[in-house]
Amino acid sequence: MTECRIAIYPGSFDPVTSGHYDIIVRASRLFEKLIVAVAPNPAKQPLFTVEERIAILQEVCASLPNVQVETFEGLLVDFAMKRGAQVIVKGLRAVSDFDYELQMALTNRRLCPQIETIFMMTNSEYVFLSSSMVKEIARLGGSVQGLVPKAVEPHLYRKLGRAVPNRETNRG
Ligand code: PNS
Repeated sequence: MTECRIAIYPGSFDPVTSGHYDIIVRASRLFEKLIVAVAPNPAKQPLFTVEERIAILQEVCASLPNVQVETFEGLLVDFAMKRGAQVIVKGLRAVSDFDYELQMALTNRRLCPQIETIFMMTNSEYVFLSSSMVKEIARLGGSVQGLVPKAVEPHLYRKLGRAVPNRETNRG
């Protein structure tokens, strides 16, 4: 049996949310090395450039010594093979994620059977959370406190040309 040591956690991370970060922390405890792989995904018209997304992730993951942040072009499985990774980690929030994730996992297995996809359940606190939701809240002047790692907030509001709101902005 081969020992699983290196895992890849891919995504757009535009920007990294608290849900992503929770998966990064938990996955980093399971593998010797975790590579957070930032996909350019121009079709999604990202708010942040790849370089900005990498820099933000590096800042957020600074205290996790076995986490490395990189970008990749082309097929994810090719990148995983190049890095000697045996596992792709994906976070699952709800049943609604499952169809798409299953399709991707099976496609990746078809392309490269040596690489295993594992799913980690998102912490229940973050099941509703997505980068798109975070951007919409910030764009409309709401507070994203707790929805993204602390270091992400100033980058987000700066990029949107807004001041960081105080917490009272969101009334429940
Ligand atoms: O955060 P996202 O946007 O849901 O991440 C999607 C991502 C980057 C994981 C997915 O688009 C991907 O793996 N892209 C790489 C291209 C690839 O390998 N495609 C074939 C597998 S379906």
